[in-house]
Amino acid sequence: MMEKSGLRVIGIETSCDECAVAIVEDGSKILSNVVATQIPHHTPYQGVVPEIASRLHTEWIVPVTQRALDEASLNLDQIDAIAVANRPGLLGSLLVGVSFAKGLAATLEKPLIGIDHIRAHLYASQIEHPLQYPYLGVLVSGGHTIICRVEDYDTLEVLGTTIDDAIGEAFDKVAKHYQMGYPGGVVIDRLAKDGDPHAFLFPGPKLKSQLDLSYSGLKTAVINQAELFRSEGAEATPENIAASFQRTAINILMKRIKRALEETQLTRLAVGGGVAANSLLREEVQALKGVEVAFPSPKLCTDNGAMIAALAYRYLKDGVQSPLTLQTMARVKAFKKSYP
Ligand code: KG4
Ligand code: ZN
Repeated sequence: MMEKSGLRVIGIETSCDECAVAIVEDGSKILSNVVATQIPHHTPYQGVVPEIASRLHTEWIVPVTQRALDEASLNLDQIDAIAVANRPGLLGSLLVGVSFAKGLAATLEKPLIGIDHIRAHLYASQIEHPLQYPYLGVLVSGGHTIICRVEDYDTLEVLGTTIDDAIGEAFDKVAKHYQMGYPGGVVIDRLAKDGDPHAFLFPGPKLKSQLDLSYSGLKTAVINQAELFRSEGAEATPENIAASFQRTAINILMKRIKRALEETQLTRLAVGGGVAANSLLREEVQALKGVEVAFPSPKLCTDNGAMIAALAYRYLKDGVQSPLTLQTMARVKAFKKSYP
């Protein structure tokens, strides 16, 4: 059990296309949070190219770490523990962060802690807005769409999940098809502000499980069959397509969130992941009655090192740390607990 106060954790996040390093003191004081985005490097391909991502992480990880230290006015000797996202994600990208973190931990003789990227997203809002446990956790990103009951920082019960595409993936693929720009979520959110959400009446999925989600049908409808769903007199402008798609994508999610709140009787809700930055989703969730809501600020919604460091602090306080043989995992099962 680490009892020292002023405990500084460096959090390293290289699971996808952001090379991110942050330093967080005592689990909530963000001393620095550097996110070097690779977006311009993947834009020509309208999606993340795994090999480009890992090569850039290899090039950037040292300067990004140096910048995080400089912004916090610290040197490596003043760091107490090293946290790193080791699962799930692109294997080549994860390996860069994990190998680098092991090198730091071994050299500095400080604890290493491997962090589940999913749990970190679900924890991100807690840095600025701590909720009492349990709460309903909603993770909406490019790789995940999960609704779960969060018992504590490590214990989750998955109530519903996408059976095909993740919500962010649908945003990205729709934007790519219509050449709206990259990354898709941000562009669609912006275009939708000038569009009519009822110009196209896209259908939502019909699923057996009331809390599961699906986005591949919506994606296909928007990409291949938009004409079939066009309202009379509505124009097929990018703004109208964006607004109608976004309206349906968020409706699908809101329906499940409301049902999950009802079924679990939970009165607290935390949202995380890149799509948590979506303005319509934020508006709709904030409007829920009788629910205490926590959203991360936009910089903590998308991939960042601060959520990794902040969550690691909780494990360290409970005496949990990882061996220097820590593995990376491209996928994880929805384990109830990540540590026994
Ligand atoms: O959490 P994140 O940075 O990476 C993953 O773990 O996937 O999420 C990235 C995803 C992308 O699909 C991106 O298009 C989406 O988040 N995104 C948004 C918005 N900002 C980012 N989707 C909808 N509206 C936004 N404002
Ligand atoms: Zn993420």
